[in-house]
Amino acid sequence: MFTFFQRRPRLRQLLPGGIDAHCHLLPGVDDGAADMEESLSIIRGLQALGLRGAICTPHIMASLPQNTPAYLRQAFEHFQSIVNRQSSIVNFQLHLAAEYMLDEVFPRHLSSGDLLAIPEGTLSGNQKSAASKYLLVELPQYLLPPGWQDMLDSIISAGYTPLLAHPERYLRLLDTQDIRALVNRGIALQGNLGSFAGYYGNRVRKIAQELRANELYTTYGTDSHSARMLSSLRLNP
Ligand SMILES: [Fe+2]
Repeated sequence: MFTFFQRRPRLRQLLPGGIDAHCHLLPGVDDGAADMEESLSIIRGLQALGLRGAICTPHIMASLPQNTPAYLRQAFEHFQSIVNRQSSIVNFQLHLAAEYMLDEVFPRHLSSGDLLAIPEGTLSGNQKSAASKYLLVELPQYLLPPGWQDMLDSIISAGYTPLLAHPERYLRLLDTQDIRALVNRGIALQGNLGSFAGYYGNRVRKIAQELRANELYTTYGTDSHSARMLSSLRLNP
């Protein structure tokens, strides 16, 4: 019998390097893990799925002005020192990047030159990984911000590859042709793993399956905001 369960891709196929490329693990800095206990629970959940590391990607956006690269680096170092002391968490790699909203403050972040890009080499082993410098970016769900295409171009001019988070979730704004056009312009795509199990609905699942079938994703992430959310994604190790 052919079921949704059988059609869900396995994590080890999607992430052969075992690194979750997108998650809100850093405690207390955005709408992700509220505290250290929650963060540690997410890590244990990721480990139970067979993953061996994660890139913390806290939001950087106009509505979270405290989330500067300097502040997030400090919060990350503190977090890492606590994780390192946990006997139940062994050999789990943590990295720091950020998920940048393409909003009115983004051009200022870009021109400052102080960016939390995906650390080079951390996506190695993942699908289509290259020695590129990736900058994880997102769009709002309901309205394309003015100048968003120019912002993508300026990221490329600054020497980075924009890695667009969960393109399958922008179904009200971008269809698969639009998304393909972005890839043709040098934009990489990060799929959300929960999309394949229908966590965001059937339409998002279908778009994700189509993008994957056309090998348009560079990498994948859980986009976990809590341990409960991670378990609701119904991931298939
Ligand atoms: Fe996210």
